[in-house]
Amino acid sequence: MIYLDNAATSFPKPAECVRAMEDCIVHYCGNPGRSGHAMSMKTGAKVYEARKTAAGFLGAADPSRIIFTLNATDSLNLAIKGSLKPGDHVITTSMEHNSVLRPLKAMEKQGVGTTVIYGDRQGRVDPQTIESAIRPETAMIICTHASNVTGTILPVEEIGKIAKKHQLRYLIDASQSAGALEVNVNQLDADLVAMPGHKGLLGPLGTGLLYVASGCYLNTIKEGGTGTVSRDLRQPEELPERYESGTLNAPAIIGLGASIGKVSRLGWQRIRNHEMALIGRLEEKLRNMEEVIVYGPEFLEEKMGITAFNIVNMDCEEVGEELNRYGIAVRAGFHCAGLAHKTIGTADTGCVRISVGPGNTMREMDAAAEAIRRICRSRT
Ligand code: ALA
Repeated sequence: MIYLDNAATSFPKPAECVRAMEDCIVHYCGNPGRSGHAMSMKTGAKVYEARKTAAGFLGAADPSRIIFTLNATDSLNLAIKGSLKPGDHVITTSMEHNSVLRPLKAMEKQGVGTTVIYGDRQGRVDPQTIESAIRPETAMIICTHASNVTGTILPVEEIGKIAKKHQLRYLIDASQSAGALEVNVNQLDADLVAMPGHKGLLGPLGTGLLYVASGCYLNTIKEGGTGTVSRDLRQPEELPERYESGTLNAPAIIGLGASIGKVSRLGWQRIRNHEMALIGRLEEKLRNMEEVIVYGPEFLEEKMGITAFNIVNMDCEEVGEELNRYGIAVRAGFHCAGLAHKTIGTADTGCVRISVGPGNTMREMDAAAEAIRRICRSRT
């Protein structure tokens, strides 16, 4: 199969990740931070190593500010629900994933108000429109670093300056950027940065991270065993334990650490250059096909390794199924981001999304373009 669904989860995972997970499960996997025996201690040390690797990768000086979560949705729920109280107002964008928009919608019942700033047809958001929406009760700005539908990169650094100027809490969703674009917490002015471990960081599914800046306090959204201060019924204040209740998925976290090590060695710039060369080749062909409509920015520097498209008079799900028959894996539909589709004009149709990763090749791009050309031909 030619795997072009890396925005859903990256494939394949690096050999380093697989080896680290197997080594953990087969040789030493105790419950980290729970017991004093050698296996528990070794697992704890390896989880800490992964935390240090993740912190180093994001430029965070203190590894305890990296919270391991289940996925980006889990990170975003903690960041959003742990930050807001009744009466607060939040500004976000129409390019967000439902993992931002649904928690905000749910919080409306608790008296949290939201303003959604719409992007243009390419999904680009003007930071000034965000600043104009600030009210006295605004408490937070939430912005995705890049759209999971079109790959459009949003101006998160400029928005960070606005948040800082107005002393607003700032959360960045780096789900679609981490690993293939610079995500350095020192340059972003963000209080909170959420990401999955299983997309551009090339880690296993069921892993995610939340970076919590020093001085950013979050209420907990779950409480439980942390392996520390067990006789105290109150949730501890110390990080990361405060936000990591229950047994961690240690083998996956250790695998994620190994994957981040691999991404660091490759370098986000090299990965980005590779992915943009692939997308450039694909889009050059698709944009020349009369029956194909490509969405999102035309210029590669404005986007990530994603091509969103439709074939005229053809249902996107059907195109996805046809591509599957050609042995090509893509995601068609609405990508858990209904407002992003409304923004780019595909609210009623959805679209087909091709998303590349470090392992894809030019030959695979040519094969995908050829398959799409044949699908178009079969319809005329
Ligand atoms: N958020 C993931 C996607 O865009 C699952 O497909």
